[in-house]
Amino acid sequence: MRSKIVAGNWKMNKTYQESKTLVKELKKAIKEIKLDNTRVIIAPTFTNLQKASKKTKDTVIEVAAQNMCAMESGAYTGEISASMIKSIHVDLVILGHSERRAYFGETDESLAKKVDTALKNNLEIIFCFGEVLEERKNGNHFKVVEEQIKKALFHLTSEDWKHIILAYEPVWAIGTGETASPEQAQEMHAFIRELVAERYISDVVEKVSILYGGSVKPANAKEIFSKEDVDGGLIGGAALNAEDFMALVKAI
Ligand code: PGA
Repeated sequence: MRSKIVAGNWKMNKTYQESKTLVKELKKAIKEIKLDNTRVIIAPTFTNLQKASKKTKDTVIEVAAQNMCAMESGAYTGEISASMIKSIHVDLVILGHSERRAYFGETDESLAKKVDTALKNNLEIIFCFGEVLEERKNGNHFKVVEEQIKKALFHLTSEDWKHIILAYEPVWAIGTGETASPEQAQEMHAFIRELVAERYISDVVEKVSILYGGSVKPANAKEIFSKEDVDGGLIGGAALNAEDFMALVKAI
């Protein structure tokens, strides 16, 4: 059975103190919720990661890094390695977010390297991809998504795929208030599952969770999450306060 997942990407938000407060609120609120085959993940920024990891240690909340260097160690000023992330007991990393691609020059090729490094260091990956508005308008969205997945992930073995979570995030829906309709999300997720099915054994296809991301909020979550191939969400804005994020956890 595929896990349901609600993951909060805090992006470059929350100071150390604010992050501590939000973690505290989430820990309190999650105790009231009965989770059934559902994973709850938060991804604070690097300076807040160790504290979040420590504070959630004995809870169901999992912690993820938002990025990671492709190189293992050495003279790469300002970068953070996979082993550093592992050393603070964080076992998950988000890779390929559209903001990393758009503002920091990440490409399918450079992401393939990051994916390899993450897996080598036993990190589970939330791998993001999705088309921009122009590509959707031109009807190229399926082709774009297919390329992004193939180039960054199709060199992996079936065994590797046990550590992959996919996150379809149409760029035009991120932080814009505009959400893909539940039908658009389902259509793309079914396409992705079919794509994976052409390349991998059925076990991979059945077990890989595919999250939707892009302006998911309490008001629209239930409908999106109810779609057959939507296994949860990667949440930006609505993950920044405990009440909204918990409403999304409840929605799933
Ligand atoms: P959003 O961000 O929920 O604020 O649209 C989603 C994301 O970028 O993961």
